[in-house]
Amino acid sequence: MTALSVNINKFALVRNARGANMPDIINISEKCLQYGADGITVHPRPDERHAKFSDLEPLRNLVSKYKNKEFNIEGYPSEHFIEKVINVKPDQVTLVPDPPGALTSSFGWDCEKNKTFLTNIVKKLQNNNIRVSLFINPSIKTLENLKIISTNRVELYTYNYAHNYSKNKLDAIKPYVEVSSYLKKKFPKIELNAGHDLNLKNLEYFLNSIENIKEVSIGHALICDTFDFGLENTIKKYLEISSKL
Ligand code: PXP
Repeated sequence: MTALSVNINKFALVRNARGANMPDIINISEKCLQYGADGITVHPRPDERHAKFSDLEPLRNLVSKYKNKEFNIEGYPSEHFIEKVINVKPDQVTLVPDPPGALTSSFGWDCEKNKTFLTNIVKKLQNNNIRVSLFINPSIKTLENLKIISTNRVELYTYNYAHNYSKNKLDAIKPYVEVSSYLKKKFPKIELNAGHDLNLKNLEYFLNSIENIKEVSIGHALICDTFDFGLENTIKKYLEISSKL
C-alpha cells in the first residue's frame, strides 16, 4: 500500500485570493483525512502565496488528532523554513532545492554540490525527530552522496514521467526503474516517495512499475478533479489506486 498525502497548497491559493478564510484549509484538510487520505502536505513558499507559515501549527494540531495520518511539509531549507519546521515538528519534511520565486518545484537536488549543506540540515531535522525526504531527479547522477547525507527517504520527481506517459509509458518509466533499482541495491534503508504531476491516469502504472513507494503527494491534479467529482469521490478514486498497490 502507498500512502496518499494530499497537497492542499491550491486550496490555500484560492483562500488567499480574497484575503479572508474561505475556503478554510483546516476544514478541507480534516475532510481529506476523514475521506481516507493518509496525510496532508503543504509547501509554504517564501512569498506565502499558497500555504502560509501560520498555517503550519493548526495543520499539525489537526493531523495529530488522527492515528496513523501524517503531516508533511515541503520546502527549500532556508534558516527561516528550518526554524518554523522544527517548532511545528511535522512527521516528515521534504527538502526541495527550488529558488524563492519558483512557480513550482522543477528539479531535484544535486547531492554532490549540496552534500555538506544537506548533511547538516538532515542531521538537525532528524535530531528533532523529524523524518527527512529529499526531492531527487530521476537520475542516479550524484546519488552516491546519499551515503553521507543519510536521508530517511527520497521523493522521486515525477514530472518527466507524467509528461511522457501518454507518448510512451515504457520509455517514461525507464529512468525511474533505474533509479529505484540503484537505490534498493546501494541504499536499502532509504525509502521512496514520489510526486509531481501524478494524476488518475498515470498513477496506477507508476505504482505498478516501481516497487514499494511509501507515499505519493498529489496536489494540482487532485484539486482539479474535485471540480468534476467533488472532494470525497476524488479522494476515493485516488485511494482505489494507491491503497491497493
Ligand atoms: N512534491 C513536491 C516536492 C512539490 O513541490 C509538489 C508541488 O507542490 C508536489 C510534490 C505535488 O505536485 P502536484 O501539485 O503536481 O501534484
